[in-house]
Amino acid sequence: MTQQATAPLVRNVDAEHCYEIVVGGERAGLTAYRDRDGQRVFFHTEIDDAHAGQGLAGILVQEALTHVRASGLRIVPVCPYVAKFLKEHDGFADITDPVTPEVLQWLGGVLGR
Ligand SMILES: CC(C)(COP(=O)(O)OP(=O)(O)OC[C@H]1O[C@@H](n2cnc3c(N)ncnc32)[C@H](O)[C@@H]1OP(=O)(O)O)[C@@H](O)C(=O)NCCC(=O)NCCS
Repeated sequence: MTQQATAPLVRNVDAEHCYEIVVGGERAGLTAYRDRDGQRVFFHTEIDDAHAGQGLAGILVQEALTHVRASGLRIVPVCPYVAKFLKEHDGFADITDPVTPEVLQWLGGVLGR
């Protein structure tokens, strides 16, 4: 019997302030954010080791950023993976804001760091 590959599903989990990517019914990774004055500040992306190196982070971030646009919000890429993604992909420059010391200070406070 052959196994059917299920397409990864990306969804916003508002209560957890993250977008998750689900593969085979299980969460394979997430990109986490906090919202600030119309900005969605992304600060961490992770993919489980079992699913690493399959391009899932790219799918996750592409769909998350597309959802940010559809929501009328702007992107602040504190997460190094999201920053790298934005450097390598066109299409979001018009809704991307810089990472400023003020944003980092605010984020530190929100995350209790
Ligand atoms: C980084 C991470 C999310 C990538 O997940 P993945 O699904 O294996 O990634 P993809 O297959 O979509 O892409 C791999 C790319 O991630 C890049 N990458 C790996 N670690 C990175 C990091 N810390 N910061 C930025 N980019 C990173 C690789 O250079 C590779 O780039 P390339 O496609 O241009 O060669 C995953 O390795 C992970 O969870 N790492 C631990 C947590 C972490 O360091 N998160 C990033 C900073 S918040």
